[in-house]
Amino acid sequence: MRRKLFMPHLIVRKNELHSTNSFAMELMKTNNSSAGTVVLALNQTKGRGQHTNVWESESGKNLTISIILMPDFLPIDQQFKISMLISLGVADYLKYYLPNVSIKWPNDIYVGNKKIAGILIEHSIMGATLNHSICGIGLNINQENFYSDAPNPISLKLLTNQEYDIEVELGKLLVCIETRYYQLVDGKTNLLEENYLQSLYWINETHQFKDDNGLFIGEIAGISALGQLRILVGDQERIYNFKEVSFLF
Ligand code: BTN
Repeated sequence: MRRKLFMPHLIVRKNELHSTNSFAMELMKTNNSSAGTVVLALNQTKGRGQHTNVWESESGKNLTISIILMPDFLPIDQQFKISMLISLGVADYLKYYLPNVSIKWPNDIYVGNKKIAGILIEHSIMGATLNHSICGIGLNINQENFYSDAPNPISLKLLTNQEYDIEVELGKLLVCIETRYYQLVDGKTNLLEENYLQSLYWINETHQFKDDNGLFIGEIAGISALGQLRILVGDQERIYNFKEVSFLF
């Protein structure tokens, strides 16, 4: 029998933290933390989003967690696989409740055209492989009003008209992430890639995008081996790193 990734004694619960990612990073430095450690905060006072964004989450209403992984088997140039497994785990969890769940490249989780979860992954490397990955997940569960300037937030409660128990949902989410994690460990990367592409928001559809040179119309064709976004514009393919291109709604 293989060791479970997530175990009850490795869940660190706090009422309030600046940011679960920052706290997990401190844990990594000061303790010998184990892979599978989960930090959960009921409230984050400085929840961090991608780049300099803040992550809005009303106290006690949502899941704001950070998972520590130690994927020392993964070469640095394959770090996008971590992004894939976490976003697929979150998407799998949501698909249990909802249709129209997708992953907006690289790792926003959408229901229809609204964002229900954000993911912030921070890696450290050792030689040629990853050393640890802190996988922060903000998943909107019971929040009904959003006040930040995030353009299109939504929550599970707003979509289903039901209130959820955060601890029960945490358990379900971790099961989904664990399944995807072991697919990576077992080398089932084709499956992960295939499922990621199947879930990719706007894949094979024609839409408007914007890059440094302005607006253009294109079609998402997939992702590169490094996890960059591939967009077909006419018969040319353009390849983008994160933040080099935006989706226009
Ligand atoms: C995004 O901008 O979409 C990423 C949001 C990530 C938010 C989560 S909440 C738990 C973890 N701790 C943080 O400070 N950020 C991540």
